[in-house]
Amino acid sequence: MPKRKTENKRLDRSQKKPEKLIDKNDVRIDGRKLDELRPVKIEVGVLGNADGSAYIEQGKNKILAAIYGPKEVHPRHLALPDRSLLRCRYHMAPFSVEERKSPAPSRREVELSKVIREALEPSVFVEYYPRTSVDIFIEVLQADGGTRCAGLTAASLALADAGIPMRDLVVACAAGKVEGRLVLDLTDVEDKGGEVDLPLALMPNLNGITLLQMDGDLTVDEFEKVVNLALDGCRRLYALQKETLKSKYVVKEAVEE
Ligand code: CDP
Repeated sequence: MPKRKTENKRLDRSQKKPEKLIDKNDVRIDGRKLDELRPVKIEVGVLGNADGSAYIEQGKNKILAAIYGPKEVHPRHLALPDRSLLRCRYHMAPFSVEERKSPAPSRREVELSKVIREALEPSVFVEYYPRTSVDIFIEVLQADGGTRCAGLTAASLALADAGIPMRDLVVACAAGKVEGRLVLDLTDVEDKGGEVDLPLALMPNLNGITLLQMDGDLTVDEFEKVVNLALDGCRRLYALQKETLKSKYVVKEAVEE
């Protein structure tokens, strides 16, 4: 009897990490070159009820970002007299990873919510809206490594889509080291099987880095190379971010009958 699809899926999931993540010709397990990004698709204004929204697919990652605000702060005692309160919730859906994730916020999600908020805050003119809040929601629907970066890229676009005045967009990308090679935009299997993962967020016009994390060890020379690789990835993603935002405002000419 042929196996049902779900059974096959379960078999796939129990497979161990592949023996080699990069072959002798420097081709990665998903067919990418060392400095190649995963295929990226971005949309803005995907949610009717949020003030701003964006959706990103980066490889197998599928992430929604939504913005509510500026609006009155609840609870009111949290309101700041001189600026808007930026809040962020990064959340992974229980079905977003292979092993069901509890819907309750994990320590990892609390940390990611904090670093993402701190990476976005320098780009927003929070002083324009005292005593208000701007809430950023990032919902990871499917995860495959690099979700904090893809979530950040989408959240910044969602802020712009909400019409919130900003100094610059924020765009994020990770680079790292896998089997001794320096690589861009790691997948989950590369992150777990590799030596180093370095997520980085950039304000491209102000040339400011707003997030830089690293797990693993690099020499100073490797560190410089990995940072430059991530910066290069960010600049390529920024071009896509800008294009996506512009496409929202393109006036389609009416086709005459
Ligand atoms: O996603 P990102 O690389 O920013 O964060 P991470 O903590 O380095 O997680 C890497 C990957 O591990 C995630 O993107 C998921 O694919 C996976 N993960 C998982 O399978 N189960 C979890 N509970 C959390 C993460």
